[in-house]
Amino acid sequence: MKTMLLVLAAAGSMVMAGGVGAADAGADLAKAKGCLNCHAVAEKKVGPAYKDVAAKYKGNKDAAATLTAKLKDGKGHMKIAASDAELKTLVQWALSAK
Ligand code: HEC
Repeated sequence: MKTMLLVLAAAGSMVMAGGVGAADAGADLAKAKGCLNCHAVAEKKVGPAYKDVAAKYKGNKDAAATLTAKLKDGKGHMKIAASDAELKTLVQWALSAK
């Protein structure tokens, strides 16, 4: 019986890891790149909360391109040292914040 429960618990955590993979990748990267020193998802720190950024750009189809350019070229934001793929992950994660 105990073994059965362990098997079920292991299977359950695998399913969950799959489900939140994209959000985790964004959050981990934001931490690794130091974004979270100035930003948080839900509250204003040095920079705006990502959920406020997401709200501000809601319905703006150029949002991802605008923000990626801002971070990449350091226009209106400090320049971020990250690859294009990393910036894409970060921006998409920030824009999906709730
Ligand atoms: C040294 C502090 C600092 C760090 C580190 C930092 N930011 Fe910011 N960020 C700010 C401030 C201040 C603002 C608000 C002013 C502005 O838009 O530049 C901001 C604004 C933003 C915005 C909203 C821009 C807009 O047009 O509304 C996004 C998105 C963002 N940051 C993403 C990031 C990401 C992703 C990282 C990490 C790769 C990061 N920031 C790291 C300080 C920081």
